[in-house]
Amino acid sequence: MGLANIVREHLPIGAASADLNMNIRVDSAQGIRSFVRRESRMTRAQQRAFAELWGRFGINSGVAQLDLEQTFGRRQSLVLEIGFGDGESLAAMAAADPETDYLGIEVHRPGIGHLLLQAAQLGLGNLRILCADAMESVERLLPDECLDRIQIFFPDPWPKVRHHKRRLIRPSFIALLARKAKPKGQLLIATDCEDYARSILESLNAAPEWLNTATGDGFALPPPQRLPTKFEQRGQRLGHVVREMAFVRRAASAKPSSAAERHGDKNYG
Ligand SMILES: C[S@@+](CC[C@H](N)C(=O)[O-])C[C@H]1O[C@@H](n2cnc3c(N)ncnc32)[C@H](O)[C@@H]1O
Repeated sequence: MGLANIVREHLPIGAASADLNMNIRVDSAQGIRSFVRRESRMTRAQQRAFAELWGRFGINSGVAQLDLEQTFGRRQSLVLEIGFGDGESLAAMAAADPETDYLGIEVHRPGIGHLLLQAAQLGLGNLRILCADAMESVERLLPDECLDRIQIFFPDPWPKVRHHKRRLIRPSFIALLARKAKPKGQLLIATDCEDYARSILESLNAAPEWLNTATGDGFALPPPQRLPTKFEQRGQRLGHVVREMAFVRRAASAKPSSAAERHGDKNYG
């Protein structure tokens, strides 16, 4: 099988049309996506990484639910990162914390290829990668109450009001993450988009399952584990202010989906 076919095999479920190096529109009858994949060209090394390394680090997203013990070959604390971009900060985090398992979900294949190369270089035994839409796959693939930490660093800001409906972090997704987090599990979010930060904070404060660990204005200090990400560095060059949020899942979750029901994803289309 050629490299192009091998890479295509790992397209996220629901991809409407795809070509390795062309613009890709990913829309489906299921709803509005939080991403539009305008793929940059995959380098030859990234294509080769898919062909040679996917079997070691990649997870088949076609299954009904992941068997985490089988996936990692052990059962340790589990961290989920959604939208890792080029994965450099995720790879560094996993390398610095070998006793914890890390699962990264991303739809941008050049970024996944980049992370595969990093993972091999660092010899990471505690990292697995899913090439899938988190909005669809977290619900289906992850058992409830399996995550010790969820991290979403610099989700696509979709700054135009007419695009807010594409934003990943909305009440229904927050309620879903609460179901997948262990009691006392952490949710760490960073963004440099001020109005997105305020809407995320408002939604999280309104969600009965999550407790804010920050005081004062509700924003937290940067988590010690996080290295500056690529998107963050770009924002820093533009003078953007970074907002951090750090919540924990309450021990007994009240009514898991009540936040979404009450707030109804009202600004999200
Ligand atoms: C603005 S970038 C930030 C990347 C990285 N975290 C950083 O800080 O450099 C947002 C990333 O989220 C990914 N993304 C957006 N929606 C997603 C979804 N539903 N599932 C998985 N990844 C998604 C995008 O492909 C993109 O790489």
